[in-house]
Amino acid sequence: KETKDQLIIDAGQKHFGATMCKSCGMIYTASNPEDEMQHLQHHHRFLEGIKYTVEDVQELVDNELGFQQVVPSCPNKTKTFLFISDEKRVVGCLIAEPIKQAFRVLSEPTGPESPNSKECHRAWQCSDVPEPAVCGISRIWVFRLKRRKRIARRLVDTLRNCFMFGCFLSTNEIAFSDPTPDGKLFATKYCNT
Ligand code: ACO
Ligand code: ZN
Repeated sequence: KETKDQLIIDAGQKHFGATMCKSCGMIYTASNPEDEMQHLQHHHRFLEGIKYTVEDVQELVDNELGFQQVVPSCPNKTKTFLFISDEKRVVGCLIAEPIKQAFRVLSEPTGPESPNSKECHRAWQCSDVPEPAVCGISRIWVFRLKRRKRIARRLVDTLRNCFMFGCFLSTNEIAFSDPTPDGKLFATKYCNT
């Protein structure tokens, strides 16, 4: 290229020379409009890519779990873990948030029998005594064809290890919010309750 050896004159530009963007990691010359444009494009694609894949996954998970919309109680404190398969697909997802207390599930569902209603399946009877807890799992999901391969187990193990820096949470410190029948079976097995 002809411009390869072009001299750059420092005319007092604010940013001169090679800069590395802290968000997208691209190294570019801030004083060069073409470079800056290229960076902007890369930057957006990079950040949007991350944002969309996580949002897409959550939308899919919410649809399957029957949630209407995504309303985390504290969006900036939620942590999302994705399980990526060898084929580079997202096959598992766990979303967790800090909590202070939880209520233990006591028994099988109670109330009027209506086998076709979704609400009935979720009406577990809970203790009204709050117990201290640290981490609430608001969503856990594994791609249908990859279930019963210990993926959920590994996601929860990872969560317990990573949720709070420097400590491994005990199963008493984590709670599953409003579990589905699948979720309850898994949680019961995982926590040995
Ligand atoms: N029926 C009976 N036992 C189960 C089931 C089930 N459907 N799922 C898990 N278990 C038990 C088993 O003992 C299993 O060990 P085993 O296979 O050696 O017998 C153990 O839990 C560990 O299971 P994993 O393989 O780690 O669980 P999996 O990766 O299949 O994921 C999950 C479980 C996430 C519940 C999955 O079935 C799923 O995505 N279901 C649909 C979405 C859903 O309902 N998510 C839970 C919502 S509740 C919430 O989000 C807080
Ligand atoms: Zn950038």
